[in-house]
Amino acid sequence: MSRFLLSILGAAALVLTYGTASAGDAAAGKAKYATCAGCHGENGVSKMPNAPSLAGKDEAYIKEALNAYKTGAKDNATMKAMASALSDTDVDNVAAYVASFPKP
Ligand code: HEC
Repeated sequence: MSRFLLSILGAAALVLTYGTASAGDAAAGKAKYATCAGCHGENGVSKMPNAPSLAGKDEAYIKEALNAYKTGAKDNATMKAMASALSDTDVDNVAAYVASFPKP
């Protein structure tokens, strides 16, 4: 195999590794966020007094919060139900989408 081909493969592997390790897919997260918008607002600016605004919060924070509701580390019945309906991939994707909202 040529050196050139090997380096292309190496680069592709790197992209794949980083792709799965870090950011979720915001476009896929958008579809999942449809249920969330009723309380947290289309652009993450809350529509309900007790639901916090999500706009301006970063991906890692949203991901951590959702996982904490899933495990019960953060105790809230509504959010436990919401977060439990999301797979790990959904959590990554929704977090990426939320992080894309403009800061209020
Ligand atoms: C029925 C209303 C409702 C819906 C629908 C809802 N949430 Fe929430 N969400 C809340 C409330 C209320 C809280 C505050 C809970 C608490 O006190 O910990 C919250 C908290 C959160 C937090 C923590 C924010 C922070 O700063 O601590 C995140 C992240 C979150 N919701 C994301 C989502 C996502 C993603 C969805 C959709 C999958 C969703 N929520 C759907 C009502 C809702």
